Amino acid sequence: MKRTLLIFLLVFIAMQFLQTEKVNSETNPELEMKTPPEITTIFKSACYDCHTNSTTWPWYSYVAPFSWIIDSHVTNGRKALNFSIWETYSEEKKEEKMKAIFRTAYASMPLASYIKAHDDANLTREQRTLIREWTGVKK
Ligand code: HEC
Repeated sequence: MKRTLLIFLLVFIAMQFLQTEKVNSETNPELEMKTPPEITTIFKSACYDCHTNSTTWPWYSYVAPFSWIIDSHVTNGRKALNFSIWETYSEEKKEEKMKAIFRTAYASMPLASYIKAHDDANLTREQRTLIREWTGVKK
């Protein structure tokens, strides 16, 4: 028993040496998506950490294995949709992303694991409807 615990502890410590890089690159305000205040408030509490270059990295994002999971969410989230570089998207891409926001607002976004750690990301039905109406996408 003691030995097993010791092995776990050693593995846990070893894992901490595999740190991920937390990159928040500088953003040009001209390229950011402009949203009405009520949408900005929702996005700030529920989306910006994974979909902008200005991620707030919590303390547990420095502790493996959480660091690995969070890092992959942020990397893939930014790749899929990045509000910090919205104005670099083509009209076609913007339209496609608006449709994706419309689609995911009632479903997969924000990620369930994020909601568990952020109470104010647990959006109400009304907030989700507000996002959908704002996209202007017709059903
Ligand atoms: C914890 C990180 C995280 C948060 C918070 C988060 N997302 Fe995501 N999002 C992702 C990841 C990772 C992907 C890409 C993989 C996937 O689709 O699951 C993604 C994909 C998307 C896509 C799909 C883009 C496409 O072209 O298919 C949309 C749209 C999106 N997110 C919108 C949102 C919105 C709106 C919010 C806030 C209400 C939000 N996300 C919050 C991590 C996050």
